[in-house]
Amino acid sequence: MSRELPPLPNHLKYRLNLSNHVTPRLLKDKPVHRWFYFPHSFSPKLVEILLTEWQVPTGSTVLDPFVGAGTTLYTSSRQGYNALGIDISPLSIFVSNTKVRVYDPPQIRQAVESITIMFRTGQHNIDLTRTDRLQQAFTDAEFNALKGLQQAILVQPEQVRDLLLLALLRVQQVVSRAKSDGGWFRWVEQDCQATSILPAFVDIVNTMLLDLIDTHGPYGLCLARQHDARQLVELQEWYPELMNDCQAIITSPPYPNRHDYSRIFQIELLTLGLNENDIFTLRYESLRSNVEAHPPERELPLFIVPERLQETLDLLPDDTDRRIDPMLRGYFEDMNAVMHSAFQVLTPGGYIALVVGNVRHAGVMIPVDEILIEVGETLGYKPLTSWVARLRGNSAQQMGRYGREPARESVVIFRKT
Ligand SMILES: C[S@@+](CC[C@H](N)C(=O)[O-])C[C@H]1O[C@@H](n2cnc3c(N)ncnc32)[C@H](O)[C@@H]1O
Repeated sequence: MSRELPPLPNHLKYRLNLSNHVTPRLLKDKPVHRWFYFPHSFSPKLVEILLTEWQVPTGSTVLDPFVGAGTTLYTSSRQGYNALGIDISPLSIFVSNTKVRVYDPPQIRQAVESITIMFRTGQHNIDLTRTDRLQQAFTDAEFNALKGLQQAILVQPEQVRDLLLLALLRVQQVVSRAKSDGGWFRWVEQDCQATSILPAFVDIVNTMLLDLIDTHGPYGLCLARQHDARQLVELQEWYPELMNDCQAIITSPPYPNRHDYSRIFQIELLTLGLNENDIFTLRYESLRSNVEAHPPERELPLFIVPERLQETLDLLPDDTDRRIDPMLRGYFEDMNAVMHSAFQVLTPGGYIALVVGNVRHAGVMIPVDEILIEVGETLGYKPLTSWVARLRGNSAQQMGRYGREPARESVVIFRKT
């Protein structure tokens, strides 16, 4: 029996046929995308639908300022667009650039053979002292095997090294006792898996090789670079030709739900060579979607608190965690800066789509989609009809978890006219 859908505010319309496309659910079966994805990745189909609906000409540039696992970057470049991705996290840059690179499969097979021999015959001589998190995540034998594998990968030819390192990150996720669970992670008990590390690695690389079968160009230019989404204007200086014709931005910023990507992906970041201090810096410099991020040192553009945000903040009960109000104000001030700089780099007539989720704090629903529509209008964008693609919390089971009001997940769409 169909339940009646809640009425929607101005500029929003239901497109619930897209519900699977605003989650990473479909990515686990998609070649290349499945190599690594984030808890809030969306599907390549969503990128294709938007580019088709907007009739963006191929050859122009598509930008993703929160590139995450590179869904927009990979999909649009495969469709003949030039694609530029930026992200504050070196993990995102590593994953995205590794996915879009062109590979020579025989060279990968040869590297796997060489790694297998080195791993089986090598004396790894690994220093087993490690941070508490790594101590809890891996037994000594697992850590020894993972580091031995990493040493063997690092001496392979540069053209295949990152792909093999990405496969190692995947193996680590399977072996680790810290399991990512949505935007959080939990600790699990499991037996030592040191002996299955090499076979698991070979399996993952074999799947990657299968995915490379039908990746033939020509593709658009494509790259990801570490940078802050609140400062997109620098891109015009760095990539004048690409940014001369930026006709579309398709992205998914973090949601203000307190998830902290630097914590969820701490093990991956350590493997990529960051130290604990680098990870703290990344946490502080990220968008203020969690209470630990700091306001940026650079001055941000003028931000007038949107009415809809103020009304919502006024509803927070007195006993709400006192870090929530400043986090939410900071989040929308940051998003104002992102959308302000996006406006500067978009070509007139260009489009922007932001996949965002409404969140609940202290029982109060924060209408992220509505507030961002108000922010965009203030900045001079024309709001187009935005799509409510998913309602979290409309099943009986979820009602208990989310309360009576479902949380919308929306694709907020504007045009720079
Ligand atoms: C929701 S994920 C993006 C998921 C992506 N749409 C995908 O399909 O994989 C959000 C990303 O925002 C990044 N991020 C957080 N603060 C940032 C900032 N100030 N500038 C750029 N990226 C930032 C995080 O590192 C994370 O990769």
